[in-house]
Amino acid sequence: MKIRALLLGLVAAGLTATAAAADPIVIKFSHVVAQDTPKGKAADKFRELAEQYTSGAVKVEVYPNSTLYKDKEEMEALQLGAVQLLAPSLAKFGPLGVRDFEAFDLPFIFDNYEALHKVTYGPVGQQLFAKLEPKGIKGLAYWDNGFKSFSANTPIKKPDDLRGKKMRIQSSKVLEEQMRELKSLPQVMAFSEVYQALQTGVVDGTENPISNLYTQKMHEVQKHLALTEHGYLGYAVITNKKFWDGLPADVRTQLDRAIKESTEYANKIAKDENDQALEAVRKAGKTEVYQLSTEERLAFKKALVPVHKKMESRIGGDLIKSIYEATS
Ligand code: LMR
Repeated sequence: MKIRALLLGLVAAGLTATAAAADPIVIKFSHVVAQDTPKGKAADKFRELAEQYTSGAVKVEVYPNSTLYKDKEEMEALQLGAVQLLAPSLAKFGPLGVRDFEAFDLPFIFDNYEALHKVTYGPVGQQLFAKLEPKGIKGLAYWDNGFKSFSANTPIKKPDDLRGKKMRIQSSKVLEEQMRELKSLPQVMAFSEVYQALQTGVVDGTENPISNLYTQKMHEVQKHLALTEHGYLGYAVITNKKFWDGLPADVRTQLDRAIKESTEYANKIAKDENDQALEAVRKAGKTEVYQLSTEERLAFKKALVPVHKKMESRIGGDLIKSIYEATS
C-alpha cells in the first residue's frame, strides 16, 4: 500500500515536472511610452528576437504606455519581481538611491549621439551599471531616445522666456536645478500624467524628445515648441538580477543576444524616429515650431552650463570629469 502511494506520488511529481518544463518562462516588459516610439519599437523587437532565439522557451509580454505600471511603481515592481524587464529613462534612478545616472541629464553635456555613445558603449556606462547591483537590479543595455526640446504655451526664444513658468520634469535633481537656473518652477510628474497636466494648465510647459511629445499628443496642448535640444534623454534596460542570474544558461545566452541586437536596432532608429515625429508635429500645425539660431541656442547653453558645477556634489565631480574626457 505504502509503495503504491509512493509510486503514485512519483508519477504525479513527474507529470508536474513535465508540465513545468513545457511552460514558457514569462518576461513582463513594462514601459511608459507609446509603441510607436524608439523605446516602444525596440521593446517589441526584443520580444520578437527573444521568442525566436529561445524557440518559444521564453514568452515576452510587453506592456506599453503605463498600462501596467507608472514611472515610480515600475521600479518597485521590478525589485519585487512582479516584472522582469524595464527601460526607464536615465533621469528616473534618483528615487531608487542611485544618483549617478543623473549625469546624463546635465544640460549640453553631449553634443550629439556619437559623443553620448562613447559613454554608453564605454567603461563609464559599465561602471554606472555596477551601481545598480546592490539594489538587486542588473543593467543590460543603454537605449537611445534623443535630445530634448522645451515646449510651452508661450513663445520660447531665450532662457528668460521660461521664467516663472511651471515646467513638468522627470524625477531628477539635475533637471530640477536646470529649471531653477531658468527661474522656472519645476514640477516632478509621472509621464502618464503630463498630457492632462498640460491640457488643464496644471503646468505650462515641459521638455521632451519630439518622439515623446508627438506620440503623447502634447503638441495639441502646447502652442510653442523651441528646438533647443539642450539635453539628452535615453534609457537603461534593466532586469531583476536574481531572475536573470537564475535563468538556465542557454536561455540567458539567447536573451543576451536578443538584448544586443535590439539595442543595435534601438540606437539605429532613434534619430530617424525623432526626425519623423518633428515632421509630423509640423504637419499637424497645432504648435509653432521655432528653430533657434546658433546665437539663440548658445544663450541657452550659457544659461544652463552652470548646472554642471552646481550638481558636482550630488553626482560626483569625478564622474562628470570622466564624461568630459570620454566625449572630448
Ligand atoms: C518622461 O518621463 O518624460 C520620459 O522618461 C518618458 C520616457 O520613458 O521616454
